Amino acid sequence: MNGEESPREGELHKIISDSISESDAGVDGLGRIRITGGISLDGEVKIQGSKNAALPIMAAALLNRGTTVLKGCPRIADVFLMEQILCGLGATTCWQGDTLEICARELKSCVADKELGEKMRSSIVLLGSLLGRWGEGVLPFPGGCVIGARPIDLHLEALRKLGAEFKEEEGCLYGRARGLRGGEITFHRSSVGATQNAVLGAVCAKGTTVIRGCSREPEVSWLCRFLNQAGGQIRGIGTSCLEIRGVSGLHDTVFQIPSDRIAAGTYVCASAITRGKGILLDPPVGEMGALLKAYEKIGGQYMYKSGKLFLCSQRALGPLRWLETGIYPGFPTDLQSIFLAVLTCARGESRIRENIFEDRFKVVPQLQKMGAQITLDGRMARIRGGRLFGTLVKAEELRGGAALVIAGLGAEGETCVENREFIERGYEDISRDLNDLGARTQKD
Ligand code: UD1
Repeated sequence: MNGEESPREGELHKIISDSISESDAGVDGLGRIRITGGISLDGEVKIQGSKNAALPIMAAALLNRGTTVLKGCPRIADVFLMEQILCGLGATTCWQGDTLEICARELKSCVADKELGEKMRSSIVLLGSLLGRWGEGVLPFPGGCVIGARPIDLHLEALRKLGAEFKEEEGCLYGRARGLRGGEITFHRSSVGATQNAVLGAVCAKGTTVIRGCSREPEVSWLCRFLNQAGGQIRGIGTSCLEIRGVSGLHDTVFQIPSDRIAAGTYVCASAITRGKGILLDPPVGEMGALLKAYEKIGGQYMYKSGKLFLCSQRALGPLRWLETGIYPGFPTDLQSIFLAVLTCARGESRIRENIFEDRFKVVPQLQKMGAQITLDGRMARIRGGRLFGTLVKAEELRGGAALVIAGLGAEGETCVENREFIERGYEDISRDLNDLGARTQKD
């Protein structure tokens, strides 16, 4: 890796590496966040760039035998991991503030580093890019957050339709294609990553590809917009049917990474649980419909004007009789545990159904340690609102970790969330952001 790399990032890679590979065993002694509960928020925070938009776009940069510049790229652990993987393939990178430059003029390998790739499930999006660039790609089986089985059958099925073949050996996936060619792909289940892989495989394939049953998540659309700006020919962006005319290659481009709808939603929840206020700067409100609807249902009020989202949560006390996660534009699964934390402090009973990942209630025992009254029944959670009490809790994955921090804001006394490295996979600095909003939190 060349360009600017602060020692902190280097250290972070190591800590993340160690913490994630040992996640099941539980890792003590890593970073913590301390939160003083019971303070009503009132401040302003700028929303960071989107993790889930940035990662596939970074993978897409491999398709350009030149330089891609990404502005507003979040400085988070998962982005640094992806950067390291790209560098291992022969790309060079350079950071200037939050602008990341990726040069993929000469790649030296189509084999992604096993150890790095295993740590992050989103490394699977490299498959489409590597097959498009080299006609070959080797990836470890993807890791990432511990939230269910997370198979990759849809990714493989889609790329097979473009002519790729796969075999599995010693924990690695070997993909090969003698020149990808356009084809017809139909997804019978919605998958963000598989849609992105199909798009990445098709954009430089020979001929036209039609993909039906596409995920309509904003992060798919952002990838397509990026590709079109770099010379791709994709039609139907934002719909469930994409038509892609293969081009011979991409060209240099400068692209602005959109702001992060999940980080923005997290801070709406922070305002809600403290019955405070808050102003979010540059949130992607157009992508936050389901979250804002749920926020209104519990009594929150908001106004959006000139790029600012003004929150008023003084009356955000209500329960939510029914909330279920769904594919976009449904309620995002990534905000489920965070909203669940808010509902543990509501006046009354709420129910949440998780429809996307079977194991996304992993944080519940930790919330229960704080006094939350939650009963689980498979994919259903019943929450009896009440009081939370600050205590020592442990993050086990990214969004569950953020949920514990939000719970800490609404709890009485001090909460200490261990393993903050999980949270840093997706948030640049949740402690800084919450303090900007008026909270009292501290990293140690
Ligand atoms: C992406 C997001 C993640 C978000 C999720 C759903 C990134 C880096 N991650 O993950 O934060 O929670 O979308 O919005 O953008 N499935 C299969 N077979 C497959 C692929 C998926 O059965 O080959 C299933 C999954 O197990 C899951 C569902 O499909 O139940 C949705 O997963 P998918 O949309 O693929 O999520 P990711 O792309 O992994």
